[in-house]
Amino acid sequence: MMKRVCIVIPTLNESENVKKVLPKVFDTQANIASYEIHVLIVDGDSNDGTQETIEKLQETYSTLKIIVCKKRGLGEAYKAGFSHAIETLNPELIFEMDADGQHDPKMIPLFIELIQHDFDCIIGSRFASGGQLINFSFRRKLISKFGNFLIRVIGGIPNILDCTSGYRCIKTDFIKRSTFKNLLTSGYAFQSSLVAELVRNNARIMEFPIIFNERNFGESKLRLIDQIDFLINLFFIRLNQSFELVKYAIIGGSGIVVNMGSYYLLTRVTHLNYQWAVLIALELSIISNFIGHHFWTFNAKNQEEKSWHLRIFNYHLSVIASTMMQLLTFFTLIYMLGIKDLMAQFLGICCGFVVNYFFNTKITWKKKQNQHLKPANE
Ligand code: GDD
Ligand code: MN
Repeated sequence: MMKRVCIVIPTLNESENVKKVLPKVFDTQANIASYEIHVLIVDGDSNDGTQETIEKLQETYSTLKIIVCKKRGLGEAYKAGFSHAIETLNPELIFEMDADGQHDPKMIPLFIELIQHDFDCIIGSRFASGGQLINFSFRRKLISKFGNFLIRVIGGIPNILDCTSGYRCIKTDFIKRSTFKNLLTSGYAFQSSLVAELVRNNARIMEFPIIFNERNFGESKLRLIDQIDFLINLFFIRLNQSFELVKYAIIGGSGIVVNMGSYYLLTRVTHLNYQWAVLIALELSIISNFIGHHFWTFNAKNQEEKSWHLRIFNYHLSVIASTMMQLLTFFTLIYMLGIKDLMAQFLGICCGFVVNYFFNTKITWKKKQNQHLKPANE
């Protein structure tokens, strides 16, 4: 049996648009050898005859399906569409795409080709170098860029320039793994939440520049409420990301236990002298922290390739750097600001922790960069 790809297209009063777009989508089958194209329309209770139009098109295209999802919102439509596609077709790949002609169906074969090169998601990106927006109002452009900026800074999803794009090809396995825990709302915020979800599941993502055309007919369904919705949802995405920091702190705490415990055993059970015991206990806690971070805090898969010994060496550097920071803060606060020693000690530990955390997230367990490809004609 041929592998399948399902293009999920939400529609809300897009009757004229689907007439134009769907034939173009099915035409791409000629350029796709190893997959059979299926299209699933998720209609949100259109009253302009979209459903009837689809029924007519089904006479020509046998792999065109439609479901109706009356719940309002793009996110609701996609969630319903994804689960229906998985249950009825079990495709290997799933696309997201707009019905209004803004996404050029000609990119479909290319995305399918690209994802074979060891990627889990290809994002059709308006903001990667080479991407374009045709006749997009300055206001929309600004909102969209600003939204993506916020996603990077508040949402903590670095390296992806277009987190809200509605044109994507995703391996179904990764959609199955998505829980949408960080999705509070029902609308357009779905797009950025899905990216956050993919990143958390260590998906290898590539952004490929696209030209975002003008709408063929009708108007955008994006409303002010969707923009507010997006902002609220940002904080949910952030909350989910914060688990890394929590894990980091837990491992840090466990290091104290390892340190104290081994010091006790070394001095009281094996009767080693305390000068040696303190050093060995320190090294054991550094190693146990390293193991904890490697296999739990930064569970290894989406980290940059690096040898074991280099990582352990980097980790030791982070300990030295944070200890120096701690001492520097301690003495500065006491001598220059006259702060009480216990307070200075506490603040010193805090500053040391920050240095340690940043050193290890930015260097020791640095995340892989996503790849941005330039179009062939550049
Ligand atoms: N079923 C359903 N229910 N479909 C909907 C709904 C809904 O509530 N709202 C919108 N759609 C459909 C539209 O009919 C269209 O096919 C597609 O979803 C995208 O909606 P547009 O109205 O065309 O959105 P846009 O062009 O303004 O927004 C584009 O850019 C956004 C980021 O700036 C889209 O690509 C979005 O996906 C993207 O997030
Ligand atoms: Mn659109």
